[in-house]
Amino acid sequence: MNTRFPEGFLWGGATAANQLEGAYLTDGKGPSVSDAMPGGKARMQIASQPDFDWDILENRYVYPNHIGIDHYTRFKEDIALFAEMGFKVYRFSIAWSRIFPTGTETQPNEQGLKFYDELIDTCLSYGIEPLITISHYEMPLNLAKMGGWQNRDCIAHFERYAKTVLTRYKDKVKYWLTFNEINVGVFFPLLSLGISNKHGGFEKKVALKGLHNQFVASALATKIAHELNPDIKVGCMIIYMTSYAVDANPINQIALHEFNQIFNYYCADVQVRGEYPSFTNKFFKKYGITWDDLGVEHDDFAILKAHPVDFISFSYYMSSVVDETSPESEKAEGNMISGVKNEFLESSDWGWQIDPQGLRLALNQLYERYQVPLIIVENGLGAYDKVEDGKIHDTYRIDYLKKHIIAMHEALEDGVDLFGYTPWGCIDLVSASTGEMSKRYGFVYVDLDDEGNGTMDRLRKDSFEWYKNVIKTNGESL
Ligand code: BG6
Repeated sequence: MNTRFPEGFLWGGATAANQLEGAYLTDGKGPSVSDAMPGGKARMQIASQPDFDWDILENRYVYPNHIGIDHYTRFKEDIALFAEMGFKVYRFSIAWSRIFPTGTETQPNEQGLKFYDELIDTCLSYGIEPLITISHYEMPLNLAKMGGWQNRDCIAHFERYAKTVLTRYKDKVKYWLTFNEINVGVFFPLLSLGISNKHGGFEKKVALKGLHNQFVASALATKIAHELNPDIKVGCMIIYMTSYAVDANPINQIALHEFNQIFNYYCADVQVRGEYPSFTNKFFKKYGITWDDLGVEHDDFAILKAHPVDFISFSYYMSSVVDETSPESEKAEGNMISGVKNEFLESSDWGWQIDPQGLRLALNQLYERYQVPLIIVENGLGAYDKVEDGKIHDTYRIDYLKKHIIAMHEALEDGVDLFGYTPWGCIDLVSASTGEMSKRYGFVYVDLDDEGNGTMDRLRKDSFEWYKNVIKTNGESL
């Protein structure tokens, strides 16, 4: 089997500011929603309580995002390691709260921008193409206290922030993503929309209103980007959850179809096609929502139509199963949302079901629907690693990635236009769902535990050398 990828394929890795930078109040940065998320497996449970109001309660919880992996001071060492692996592209995010600490300032924080000047220049000095997520789960906390994205003022605040960074880096950075995993907001508006349950997060109409505001903000950022430099490419970013109906019962097949509509396609339809999908009214009716509830303004639809994205990026870790007829079936754990257990698949240490063929399906389903270029900007295995004599033998991670890369190659042969791959957490970082350091994805190990103890030394895992060779041979040697 020849698994060589097309010339110019963008191999790399992905991270997010809030999960690795640390320095959460340094050089003028303000706190973000992720900085208010406690560490540990109960993180989402705590943050989903009805009275959770984004307060940082130092005496009650630990907050791993406050220190991250100290990338803020060690970024040069980290990027040198990425360069050693031969990265062609590095996906990272800019922390909105580093540039506009409360989100409402009229002038950006110059010290924050200086950090990204250096980060970007370091990437470019190695010939690594930066791919920037403008907002990855870290809106300024102050904006979340104002209701998060259900507050329409966020559009103007985001537009000012996006314009600032796009203007500054327009000639250095070609690839931009607006909102990380935007479709998470449909079911789980906490991190992506900055809406806690206290602020109405459990109400579908609040979440869909927040999403409408993000769609408009994303279109305005796309407009700015294209006006600043027509060569810039802007992408949307979704979680793609390949799903199967549990059986051939038409009730389950319809449930699967509706899950795909509302979760996998609702946001991408708006962002790629520039208009709400035909099934929107059906869902609004189901949830008792009217267009007025969304606070839509006169020009919104024209803005969406005029400024669609250029490509689709997505995360893919696992697949899920839809079972409408037996709601009591055993559930599987999942990335932000989950379905029932699939007996044909194995699970990760965190119960996420491993399904490389699901990635092939994801690529085919997205490409057939939208016919725009695709890039996988997150994929990988969160696992416990053990250090033995300074070595980490992570064969399980190599096995996971290898199978997913083979599936990507099969999708290319199916005719899909896939232009890059940036596995998640190329260096170990704080988990988004649990705040644990012990849930590791990296090629590079970071000596830090869940309580914040460790030297923070970086170590190359076995997967480091393996991935280096994958990139060197352009996918031929797996
Ligand atoms: C995605 C997010 O949902 O999955 C990342 O974009 C996150 O921020 C990644 O880290 C893996 O999830 P987790 O919960 O294992 O960190």
